[in-house]
Amino acid sequence: GAPVTQSLAKIESGQMLTVSWRSLPVFVLNRSKAQLATLPMVDSRLVDPKSDGASADQQPKYAQNEARSIKPEWLVVIGICTHLGCVPDFVPEIKPEPFDPEWKGGFYCPCHKSRYDLAGRVFQGVPAPKNLPVPPYHFVDDNTIQIG
Ligand code: FES
Repeated sequence: GAPVTQSLAKIESGQMLTVSWRSLPVFVLNRSKAQLATLPMVDSRLVDPKSDGASADQQPKYAQNEARSIKPEWLVVIGICTHLGCVPDFVPEIKPEPFDPEWKGGFYCPCHKSRYDLAGRVFQGVPAPKNLPVPPYHFVDDNTIQIG
């Protein structure tokens, strides 16, 4: 499939856009400072917080960091649950029960209740085994990415 170019100019802080690439939904999220601050809080509850274990094949080298991204604020992940392939919902903030009260927001798969954080890192104790994949992408300029 051809690479896809996407402007980031209109995605406000805290907001997410879904871009189609190779018929896959790619989530492009402009993480706020508050959202980024949640990432280290949940490390101890994740399957692979550094993305270097079970998820080592789930992202390019430039995304092997806590934010799983080139620029901390911009998360780019393939929105396909690593369990059986449903599209998770974006949940931008903490939700009350029946969600885990320690969850700080992220992605929730409605099919079998897998939870991911705001870097697409999967929580322990859910069916999904791995973090959401990061596709190949790069910045064409400050406000534009190319996926693929
Ligand atoms: Fe997402 Fe099963 S497909 S939890």
